[in-house]
Amino acid sequence: MLDRFEREINYARISITDRCNLRCVYCMPESGVRPLRHADILSYENILRICEVFSALGINKLKITGGEPLVRKGAVDLIACLKQIDGISCVTLTTNGHLLAEHAQKLKEIGLDGVNISLNTLEPSVYSNVTRGGDVNKALAAIDAAIDAGIPSIKLNCVPLGAESRRDVLQVAALARNRVIHVRFIEMMPIGAGFAFTGLSNGMVCEWIEREYGKWTPTEKSYGNGPAKYGALPDFRGKIGFISATSDCFCERCNRVRLTSNGFVRACLNQTDGVSLLPALSEADDDKLFYDIRTAILKKPERHNFSSREESVKDVMSKIGG
Ligand code: 5AD
Ligand code: SF4
Repeated sequence: MLDRFEREINYARISITDRCNLRCVYCMPESGVRPLRHADILSYENILRICEVFSALGINKLKITGGEPLVRKGAVDLIACLKQIDGISCVTLTTNGHLLAEHAQKLKEIGLDGVNISLNTLEPSVYSNVTRGGDVNKALAAIDAAIDAGIPSIKLNCVPLGAESRRDVLQVAALARNRVIHVRFIEMMPIGAGFAFTGLSNGMVCEWIEREYGKWTPTEKSYGNGPAKYGALPDFRGKIGFISATSDCFCERCNRVRLTSNGFVRACLNQTDGVSLLPALSEADDDKLFYDIRTAILKKPERHNFSSREESVKDVMSKIGG
């Protein structure tokens, strides 16, 4: 359906858990966040019911997120069911990769359309510090497992922390040299724990990359459902993409809504008020569900207000829907 600003909303990010096996410095506070009680997390049955309504409203692409979605038991079976919903043409997964290797083959078999693996650096100590305890070898093994399993679209998400990240950026970009995987650089957003970081503009990241690897030439093709701008580097098999939420606001082209793990629809990352679907889920028919989801989409703001740091959302990402 169209929102108030004539944007076609056809993509939903579905957070299936607020829990994560890592604690990235820009995502979660060191102490972690108090996890939601299991009873407050949407059941898989309810997620499926909501996604059927999403589909009837014209949403045809789903991204499964968290926290870390693979920490929730049965995540792969849920994805298999989502793939069966009429009208859903694409289901992808965002993950830190720590549990991907063991599930990659099954995910391919059930028809997962793509995976985004978060990876900020190849340096084991930097990775462990940034993720507060993660193992870069697990993330790298996840990439290999996804390639070996034949998952169709494999992308890496890299969030540079600041000026000190040059070597990390160049190393992560280089993974696209000999593999058909696309590496995307995401500007730090002042959301949750990200608020404490100044981050780095993608203009700088692109300059570093061009100086090292040659000219970045934008491609016509978009390689996904989101706002990334992709380009090719000489002799690189994969593409390099930039998601510049802060320096190059893409709200005008935004096509998404978010479902949080506790049942709120948030139409914008930077929106404090979502619409709870819990009352609608307690009804036997779907009328209220349709109505409430439509209402949430119609509340989608014209743009985020990241430039006004006072107004930006202090919730952690895992609460907002990844
Ligand atoms: N700014 C930008 N990206 C973030 N992510 C988590 N928090 C932030 C933030 N504040 C990234 C993760 C993951 C993707 C889904 O979002 O690293 O790759
Ligand atoms: Fe977990 Fe992803 Fe947040 Fe890191 S960015 S703590 S991997 S949810």
